[in-house]
Amino acid sequence: MDRIKIVGGGKLTGTIPISGAKNAALPLLIASLLTADRLTLKNVPNLADVNLLVRILRNHGVDLAVDGKRADGASHLGETFHLTARDIVDTTAPYEMVSRMRASFWVLGPLIARMRQAKVSLPGGCAIGTRPVDLHLQGLKALGAEIDIDRGYVLAKAPKGLRGARIIFPKVSVGATHNVLLAAALAKGETVIENAAREPEVGDVADCLVKMGVRIDGIGTSTLRIQGKDRLEGAVHTVLPDRIEAGTFAMAVAATGGDVLLQGARGIDLTTALEALRQTGTDVTEVEGGLRIVRNGNGLLPISIETQPFPGFPTDLQAQLMALMTRAQGTSVIRETIFENRFMHVQELARLGADIQLHGDTATIKGVKALQGAPVMATDLRASVSLVIAALTADGETTINRVYHLDRGFERLEEKLSRCGANIERISAS
Ligand code: EPZ
Repeated sequence: MDRIKIVGGGKLTGTIPISGAKNAALPLLIASLLTADRLTLKNVPNLADVNLLVRILRNHGVDLAVDGKRADGASHLGETFHLTARDIVDTTAPYEMVSRMRASFWVLGPLIARMRQAKVSLPGGCAIGTRPVDLHLQGLKALGAEIDIDRGYVLAKAPKGLRGARIIFPKVSVGATHNVLLAAALAKGETVIENAAREPEVGDVADCLVKMGVRIDGIGTSTLRIQGKDRLEGAVHTVLPDRIEAGTFAMAVAATGGDVLLQGARGIDLTTALEALRQTGTDVTEVEGGLRIVRNGNGLLPISIETQPFPGFPTDLQAQLMALMTRAQGTSVIRETIFENRFMHVQELARLGADIQLHGDTATIKGVKALQGAPVMATDLRASVSLVIAALTADGETTINRVYHLDRGFERLEEKLSRCGANIERISAS
């Protein structure tokens, strides 16, 4: 298994190109199931999760062609995928695949909508919490799907096709919004989703569906109105930049000090996180072509924050903010309200010398003068990258084990950081 070795202490200076968003690319790839025509996606990040989803989609009959490498060296612009689901040859998504990546459960809505039947494994729990799918099933039932659960599988059918309906989600769920939005695109008549997730990735999927011929009102708001179509067309769509990757690098710069341009990052997708960074004393400016993050000399101020659905502070940046706050001059408080068990980074950060107390959903972080490098273990994607941030500021050498977690969601992380002066290196297992 690969490891990452980091020797901390240096500042970050330079430019980091931001890749296409993993959490938009995944549902956009799934949208290819909705049409027999070609869906072209540009700026697709090269990530383990993308590759796994492609395998799942191929199993359903999706054909994929990837454009060759760019001669202009603009590899940071991601890859261009041409996806065609002319015939869906299999409507089953097996446990072996769905259990490895939760977002693959989102094939359920498109498969029922197009094929009127689907058998999709329940995703099961995962490291960050129990993560049920009741809201997904509630939404799809409202559209007319008959759903049974049998031996770990969701068996769904809609012999006469799906019909539009009004769905009021009792809780904001990104995945349930994606699943129902994708299904509603091929349902008869109008679907209204109330209390829909407003994450920019949901908006990106909705924008793509509009290009495929669906009328959607309320994109970016918590009420989506979708006029379903019998048949969707092909489209060309560019995946939006990854706000979580951008926020992560912004926190890395705040932690180490330095001056970095996050090329392609959009402030509008990160308002609350950038405000939090400003409160720590970091300079954040929107400039042409991205965001500029600067921290020179001054100490970090502590802050208190709780995670919330968009536009609140994202749970996917909670671990990174905690790593940053381990070095603040004072005590910070971070409350995790989205997932009940998303604190696995705490004990690993403690191995580097962080002072963090956990009480239920709340972490109290007393800033320390210095962290010391040590061997640590990556536990999930965002927890792993919080260890990278901490290691960049620690004295001496840190090795991070189980880095396959990082490869699920960060494209060329070591290269991007080392180009800005970080002493970071991947040690291959072989
Ligand atoms: C998406 O997960 C993201 N994944 C997660 O990013 C992100 O942390 C999360 O949204 C919240 O922003 C992708 O986009 C691929 P939810 P999702 O449904 O859709 C509860 C990362 O690191 N809930 O919005 O699975 C649930 O338990 C990942 O990139 C139900 O109760 O999250 C949680 O408490 C990790 N019933 C809350 O809602 C349901 O049916 C929000 O979950 C569904 C969810």
